Amino acid sequence: MKKSIKGFSKLSKRGKLKWIVENFFIDPEGVMKELMSYWLHDEEKQKILDEISENTISNFHLPYGVAPNFLINGKTYCVPMVIEESSVVAAASSAAKFWNTRGGFKTEVISKIKIGQIHFTWNGDAKILRKHLPKINEVFMKTSDTLTLNMRKRGGGIQNMELVEFGELEPDYYQFKISFDTVDSMGANFINSVLEACSNALIQYMKNTTELRNSGEHFELIMSILSNYTPECLVKASISCPIEELGEISGLDAQSFANKFYKAVRIAIIDPYRATTHNKGIFNGVDAVAIATGNDFRAIEACGHAYASKSGSYRSLTTCRLDDGIFHFWLEIPLALGTIGGLTSMHPMAKRSLELLGNPSTDELMGIVAATGLAQNFAAVRSLITTGIQMGHMRMHLLNILNRLEASEKEIKESLVYFKDKMVSSSAVQEFLHFLRQQIPEQEPGLPIR
Ligand code: MEV
Repeated sequence: MKKSIKGFSKLSKRGKLKWIVENFFIDPEGVMKELMSYWLHDEEKQKILDEISENTISNFHLPYGVAPNFLINGKTYCVPMVIEESSVVAAASSAAKFWNTRGGFKTEVISKIKIGQIHFTWNGDAKILRKHLPKINEVFMKTSDTLTLNMRKRGGGIQNMELVEFGELEPDYYQFKISFDTVDSMGANFINSVLEACSNALIQYMKNTTELRNSGEHFELIMSILSNYTPECLVKASISCPIEELGEISGLDAQSFANKFYKAVRIAIIDPYRATTHNKGIFNGVDAVAIATGNDFRAIEACGHAYASKSGSYRSLTTCRLDDGIFHFWLEIPLALGTIGGLTSMHPMAKRSLELLGNPSTDELMGIVAATGLAQNFAAVRSLITTGIQMGHMRMHLLNILNRLEASEKEIKESLVYFKDKMVSSSAVQEFLHFLRQQIPEQEPGLPIR
């Protein structure tokens, strides 16, 4: 058995797979067959997937579901969601249906600015560097002119540049903080290309400008990269209706439900332990749509959690208010999304997801993603303050176990009735199926007591 190898990336896909199965599995032939069974029959499509990443040997499938009936700004969407956790799509669908008849979701893009940074150290006089800002700005604009041409044609490009001085925290450390509008693309590659070009120009400028060279002989470019913290790429999604229109929810009258809901959100504002779980529920929705549309969910998560901490302590991304008999609930979240370029136009399913959404602009997609996050949070908190979440989860869990145990339709039906008020576990389901399978057909199921 060899657990390491030289030149792995040079092997063909089959060669890589062969080496893997022969060295890491006890049934190489069986595993090879299984992993190859996940290859797409359409070779062209498979090639696209293979080339998205490196060292690809197979595909890892996740469920692709949809949440219909999402009324957002007066338009109805069927939202694609890629997620492995059961109950998430059901929860989003249920919240979408609930709000569909109560005015739907309203969304608004507050701003759409992204940030790139050029980090460097210089031991000269800050005043002299500040004096050169307009000239450096000009150099950056000129250097990036061809790179930004298309973006500018679409109404975007570099919006602003500032010098940030961090000398008090780290000796000689400065950064150029550049704001970008990347219109309908997420823009990570665009921003990074512009930053790298500008950094090279900066090195030359610092070297060739006598005044700067005389003031500080030591200039070092540390790095240039976009920031995934995009608090100014912000969208708000909200729902509201008269409290009485909420109706009775799982035995709670509308006013009691609203009061309890308000308290639950307050708790997530006050307590970071609860806030983390609360926000995780929001990202169940946000990430699922981000993945389905080929967007970078890690960037979105990183930014969302940083934004949730902007007050100095980590808190809920949603807020609830009860005003003059009206229930208001909203989510404010930074979402650096794109609808063109990158994976959005490369991944065949991402393209279909966008088509399913009517090929939205980035602003529209930001609204859809935010609305899904808000719906998810509404559904989670609604369950938590009424029935608890285990009931819904357990039903899905039960179905998963029954499928694994190859239960017939009749057995599934009977199990759903039997486990309605009982704890679901693999062994309990197995025991119940065993019991059912021993029954003679006419006999009433005399159920085991637990
Ligand atoms: C589970 O994935 C998400 C929840 O825990 C969110 C929440 O507690 O608000 C249900």
